[in-house]
Order: sequence, then structure tokens, then C-alpha cells
Amino acid sequence: MTLSTAMTENLVCTEIAGRSVRELAEKYGTPTYVYDAEKIVQQIERLRSFDVIRYAQKANSNLAVLDLMRRLGVVVDAVSVGEIYRAHRAGFPYKAGENDPAPIVYTADIFDREALDWIEKHRVHPNLGSPDMIDQFGERCPGRDVTLRINPGFGHGHSQKTNTGGASSKHGIWHEDLDDCLARAAKYDLTISGLHMHIGSGTDFEHLAQVCQAMEEMALRVGPQLKTISAGGGLPTPYRNEDEEIDIERYYALWDATRQRLATEFEHPLSLEIEPGRYPVAQAGFLIAEIRAIKTMGENLFYLLDAGFNNLARPILYGAYHPMSVAHRVPRESAKTQEVVVGGPLCESGDIFTQTDGGLVVRRNLPVAEVGDFVVIGGAGAYGFVMGSNYNSKPFAAEVLLDQDGDHLVRQREPVSDLCRLESIPVRQ
Ligand code: LLP
Repeated sequence: MTLSTAMTENLVCTEIAGRSVRELAEKYGTPTYVYDAEKIVQQIERLRSFDVIRYAQKANSNLAVLDLMRRLGVVVDAVSVGEIYRAHRAGFPYKAGENDPAPIVYTADIFDREALDWIEKHRVHPNLGSPDMIDQFGERCPGRDVTLRINPGFGHGHSQKTNTGGASSKHGIWHEDLDDCLARAAKYDLTISGLHMHIGSGTDFEHLAQVCQAMEEMALRVGPQLKTISAGGGLPTPYRNEDEEIDIERYYALWDATRQRLATEFEHPLSLEIEPGRYPVAQAGFLIAEIRAIKTMGENLFYLLDAGFNNLARPILYGAYHPMSVAHRVPRESAKTQEVVVGGPLCESGDIFTQTDGGLVVRRNLPVAEVGDFVVIGGAGAYGFVMGSNYNSKPFAAEVLLDQDGDHLVRQREPVSDLCRLESIPVRQ
């Protein structure tokens, strides 16, 4: 069985996009992230109705993924100097050609000093998420175009931690402060060419739909200087068999109607952007790990992997569910399964992939396996590698991209010797 396109939970998974899991694991070692380029392409194609697809690279900023996006005509969002740097390394120019969308937009709620320097120097288009950002940018770069990110006063996400709207969220300019912000922008002769809202990650259609109305109200207050409206990201993707795919065309129709009304009012066309992170890449990514120990703790049977929350933090952070399968090193006839807890190598009890929000350890029905077999964790292409860490001095995993030309190592496994590369012991007299 193959885990190539759908997020179907095949409990035994011998192939990813037609490549043998065992061979990938033997060639690249474990833990290794594997990305199916074809799936990324498919997901992007589903979003083509939008004028501009702006990939939120925070979800997966490997250069090879960014390069693929660029070749697909997708532009990017960046939230840090590091992400601007990555985008540029992957071939995105810093600033737009005439009438093109900004290839890179910097979206944040603060400018650290380095970011402000880069944005001034390279003329990267900023999406300003606080009144202070308007002042700081205006002083340095008067007369330029900016986007304002508005917090419409409500939000929603798959977890409270990914809800980016409402009064408990630090994101965006509070909707009631818009007039003050318009005055600030005017003081520096900034043109507000874009308006942006992003209410949360992993939300649902109903909540996403509410944003259109809030956008329309805010856009009318900004007026005809607006050229672009952005629906933000937040598109959900299925992680469980029972999760439904979002109806993109229905979602587009809502936004298109909003955009058309604004265009009529402003008497010029408006560009409609979408800014997904999870949607293009989540289902394209798999984390392959090896089972290194199997042990019983009272009533629980544990499969302990060589990957932990240093590689994939979503379960410990959000109680996030990821589909899992087993790839036997030696294929088996029997499809017998058992209830297991799946954990990693780290020195914390929370290092468990099968947990719910709040840290409750749960069991998962997985094929009977032995030490040396592999577990394939699906839905790992978004917020997987990028949220990894060196905790317990574990090196970062390798990353491999699969496409029609074969399998490509797109990030080497971090060598242990690199762990101390930037450190030094004080020289003492
Ligand atoms: N735009 C902005 C301004 C954002 O803050 C985000 C996500 C996105 C777009 C992309 O959202 P998406 O389409 O991926 O839902 N680590 C969490 C998700 C955090 C999302 C942060 N911002 C997770 O693993 O679920």
C-alpha cells in the first residue's frame, strides 16, 4: 500500500509516492523527512482560482520546497530575516517588478532591528501588524507601499495556540485602531496598498467565511488606495480519515464576491491573495523513524522510535493527531495489529506521538512489529521539520524530496560535530 496522495490510514505502508520506505530508510538513515513533490503540486493547483498564492513558508521552508513553489508561480510570506534570506536563496527577488505581486512579503507584529534594516535595504514589502511597526517603518522608509494586518476581533484555530484573532491574540492591528493607523500611515506618506487578515491555523469553513465581511468593512474604511486583499492562511487539511477536505471553490466564491464589491466601489480591480502554509505541504510530508525498542509498561505496549518531539513537536504542543503506519523491514504475510503507545528517545515523559491535548497518553492500533521495523508518520510536511530542535543534543533529521526525477537529499542529517560549532569554552588565564 502507498501513502502517496490521500491521507488514508493504511496501517501498513511499504511505499511513499512509489518509493520503498525500507529503501529510503536504508539509503538516508532515520529519522528522515520525505516530501512528495507531486502532492505539493496537486495542492497548489487546487488554489489556482486565487490571483496570488502566497505560500506561508513557516510551514516548511526547505530550499527545495521554496524552489518548487517558485517554479509553480507561487510567491512567499516571510516572518523573519531568516525566511527572507531563504526565499532569496531559493530564487525569489526581494521586490516586485512592475505590476507583479511582491515576491516576498514580511509579515510580523514587530520589526527586530535586523529585519527593519533588511526591509529598508532590499525594499521587501511589509505587512504591518502593530501601530509601532507603522511608525518605525514610516520613519525609515517614508512614501512606500505597505499592507496592514488587521485583527478583526475574532479568531479560530485547531488549538487555542493557533488562534490568531480576538483580544487574547497578539497578532495584527486591532480593528478599532484602524483609523489611528490610517493617520499614522498618512503622516509618513505610506500608501496602504494591501489589507490582510489571518484569524488562525487549522480553522474551519464557517470561521474562515466570517473574515470576508470583516475584510469588506475594513477595506471600505481604507478606501481606493487598496490594490490587494489577502484572505490569510488557515485552510484546514485532513489528518484523520474522517476529516473532510475544505471546499476551496466555495471558499473562493465568497472571497471573490467580496473582492468584486470592493472593486466596484473603488472603481479599479483588486487582487485577491491567499496565504496557506499547511494546505500545500502537510499531506506531502512523512517522517520515517525506526523502532528501536518495544517494551511493556503495565498494560501499555510501547514502540519507541529514534524520532521524538525534537523532530515533530505537534503532538506534544497541541495534542495533534498524525496518521501512522508501519513499514516492516521484512514484509509480513499477517496483518495482525495491536494497541500501542508510540514514543521517542527523549528524556521526557511527554515525548509521545500518541497523545491528546493536555498530554493524555492514548493508544493507537498499529501492526505488530519488531525492533528494526519502521514507523511512517504522515501529515508531517507542515510544521514538522521547521519546529524541530536540538533538544537532548539530537541533530536535525535529514530531508528528502521525491519527484519524477527520483529521490533527492535536500537537507543532510546534521552531523553531531555541528552541534557545538558555534560554541566556545572561555579561555582562562
Ligand atoms: N499567514 C499568517 C500570518 C500566519 O500566521 C500563518 C500561520 C499562516 C499564514 C499559515 O497558516 P496555515 O495555512 O498553515 O494554517 N505550528 C502550528 C501552526 C501555526 C501557524 C502559525 N501561523 C501547527 O503545527 O499547527
